[in-house]
Amino acid sequence: MSSVVIVGTQWGDEGKGKITDFLAEKSDVITRYQGGNNAGHTVKIADKEYKLHLIPSGIFYPDKMCVLGNGMVIDLEALISELDYLEENGVTVKNLIISDRAHLIMPYHKVLDELDEERRDQEKIGTTKKGIGPCYMDKAARKGIRVCDLLEPEILKKKIENSLKEKNQLLDRVYDSKAFDPDKMVADITRYAERIKPFIGDSSYYINTALENGEKLLFEGAQGTLLDLDHGTYPFVTSSNPVAGGVCIGAGIGPTNITNVLGVLKAYSTRVGDGPFPSELKDDIGDKIREAGGEFGTTTGRPRRIGWLDLVIARYAKRVSGLDQIALTLLDVLSGFEKLKLCVAYKYKGETLKEFPASLEVLSKCEPVLEELPGWEEDITGIESYDDLPTNAKNYLKRIEEICSVPISVISVGPGRDQTKIIKDIF
Ligand code: GDP
Ligand code: IMO
Ligand code: MG
Repeated sequence: MSSVVIVGTQWGDEGKGKITDFLAEKSDVITRYQGGNNAGHTVKIADKEYKLHLIPSGIFYPDKMCVLGNGMVIDLEALISELDYLEENGVTVKNLIISDRAHLIMPYHKVLDELDEERRDQEKIGTTKKGIGPCYMDKAARKGIRVCDLLEPEILKKKIENSLKEKNQLLDRVYDSKAFDPDKMVADITRYAERIKPFIGDSSYYINTALENGEKLLFEGAQGTLLDLDHGTYPFVTSSNPVAGGVCIGAGIGPTNITNVLGVLKAYSTRVGDGPFPSELKDDIGDKIREAGGEFGTTTGRPRRIGWLDLVIARYAKRVSGLDQIALTLLDVLSGFEKLKLCVAYKYKGETLKEFPASLEVLSKCEPVLEELPGWEEDITGIESYDDLPTNAKNYLKRIEEICSVPISVISVGPGRDQTKIIKDIF
């Protein structure tokens, strides 16, 4: 039995898609366990770049099974566009299971996401406006519509009509916005359902059977530790649990089945959306990293905020997900800097903080304690192995390992598959 969780250790966009695609070659089943199409995972194969939002990044191997777990929230229209996009690009989607227990993002969730953001004024979350929060709200309120409802037309119709009774009132009276037509919504959802019906199944049963048969499982996190609803920079978070523990709930496996947690750590920090960011760089260095790393949102195109690598956060991610290993990505982006800095602690009101604070009031006043290291000039995108790295790059990695007490098992020096170097086996 072998099951590896790939988890984002920062604010998302750490390169989880790339690492998942790479490790998918050696696995049998690749599962997304939370989130929805707020995620944007990039996979580069030869010269072609693919962007995935809902479908696991194992889809490029036709013999692997890809699973959309029960913890996900699924926008059927977005899912169908993604299936079309993949097929138009020569990727056959056959081995796919969509959990019958996953919740559906309905058109009103997207509208409410947008309207709620508008109403927040100064306190905007900066969501992707994909309806993620409102959908998880309905799930928690026990008002959600699930994938299994698509298989029972009468129940689906009733649920949509019931839901719209409330949502249309809310849209009208609270937001002064226009109502949805129930008949049209039932017709649209029924049409989408036809397309995805062949993929609907009991995903937890499938995954657990695969485990019993000794297959290798990979769980692909979306978002990252600091966007986790419980452990992140609340309220500037998403509405699901990207941390490794989210796998048990969102895929329906027991905690004892997880054998390895691999944290994906970008060599510097980025954040899309609002909220405090202690190691943020608002200067030329930040701009240079943004350009070199192409740091613009995969889902929304927004420029990502940039900062030095924050190891207070990395150590926190180790704690809340129990990281066994790190995959250090985008190391190549740091070539050409005379000096690099690592944020090793925070200063708050004269005190040194080593642990990540809960209060955003505190976090927003934290100054980073920076440790300076010499950089390297060399282009490292073509290295064959870890040994080829310049000494200063190796020292940068060593210092991260020392401070986090987690070994770096994978390094990534470019977006391509052949730019991933394994230092220590994952499976
Ligand atoms: P994810 O959301 O964690 O899957 O990450 P994204 O795909 O949103 O963002 C990561 C970006 O970095 C993508 O454009 C990747 O193609 C790219 N990328 C991943 N690993 C590397 C790397 O090691 N070096 C460089 N230069 N780009 C990388
Ligand atoms: P991947 O999987 C980066 C951010 C949004 C916003 C907050 C809440 O590609 O790493 P939501 O739409 O989820 O309610 O927005 O979370 N966010 C992400 N940031 N990468 C992502 O996914 C993200 N998914 C959501 O920008 O700040
Ligand atoms: Mg992304």
